[in-house]
Amino acid sequence: MSEPTPASKVLDRVLVLEMVRVTEAAAIAASRLVGRGDEKAADAAAVEAMRAAFDELYMDGTVVIGEGERDAAPMLFIGEKVGGAPGKGPRIDIALDPLEGTTITAKAGPNALAVLAAAEEGGLLNAPDVYMDKIAVGPGYPPDVIDLGKSVRENVEAVAAAKGVRPEDIIVCVLDRPRHGELIEELRALGCGVVLIGDGDIAGVIATTDENTTIDLYMGSGGAPEGVLAAAALRCVGGQFNGRLLFRNEDERARARKCGIEDLDRIYKLEDLAKGDCIFAATGVTDGSLLGGVKHFKGGRMTTHSVVMRASSGTVRWIKGEHRA
Ligand code: FBP
Repeated sequence: MSEPTPASKVLDRVLVLEMVRVTEAAAIAASRLVGRGDEKAADAAAVEAMRAAFDELYMDGTVVIGEGERDAAPMLFIGEKVGGAPGKGPRIDIALDPLEGTTITAKAGPNALAVLAAAEEGGLLNAPDVYMDKIAVGPGYPPDVIDLGKSVRENVEAVAAAKGVRPEDIIVCVLDRPRHGELIEELRALGCGVVLIGDGDIAGVIATTDENTTIDLYMGSGGAPEGVLAAAALRCVGGQFNGRLLFRNEDERARARKCGIEDLDRIYKLEDLAKGDCIFAATGVTDGSLLGGVKHFKGGRMTTHSVVMRASSGTVRWIKGEHRA
């Protein structure tokens, strides 16, 4: 039997563009349930479509961040093998969120995405499904301009000084949650603009990398899996990220230890979350700041908007897909 192809070569030649097919399939499936008020159905449709699309790819993939643990998720559970060439194709680790923004989709709100990241085996942090405290900033800043170990004020002042503006000129994106009440108050007391988003912190983090959004910083807690996916995107386009797992009880700590995490208070930087070469791909489900959503036209024609990026080359491809029924 021949040796499996090194993952880096295949990431290069085939998988980068192929990954978009996977997120497109999930986004199209979820888009049929936009505004239907059924989060579970929308998520299930995206999961099933993503699972089927993976089977078309020549790879020996393992889900390291997925829909949950084996006993809790029927498909795309952590540890599940995906890809059409088990034991033969390149061994790739996959982090996925077939529908990032289930509530957004159910309510037809903005910024729902189908998302995945792929890396060489061992390249992505195997994060438990707990909360993560996050801070992110876009590219072009000195190293370590943000630090989760410092106060909100210190971080805002450091970014403002590096940008050459006043702290009150800084715009911060935060998930609109009661748990962020104090953070929002503190930011407003500093004079910062706070952009509150209802859901979807992967898009919130990525927004810091696009000057047109005017968002300088992302702050607050959200899902740890979403933190790894956002970190993979920032590895490709530049920017800085710090994340620290947050635990609400002993069960969550035990789940982290089961994932192989020993230092539960560790502050993770980009390379700790997504190292080596990696790919990030996303397709819009509903219109958002990053991508347009799936549009359905007469005769079953559809359009999709996707982005796929790769860390080693820094290439970012924006892909508009036209699909026939
Ligand atoms: P879902 O797609 O699983 O609904 O996640 C949406 C999301 O807003 C994430 O982007 C974010 O990380 C997380 O939920 C925040 O969790 P919570 O809604 O519990 O504050």
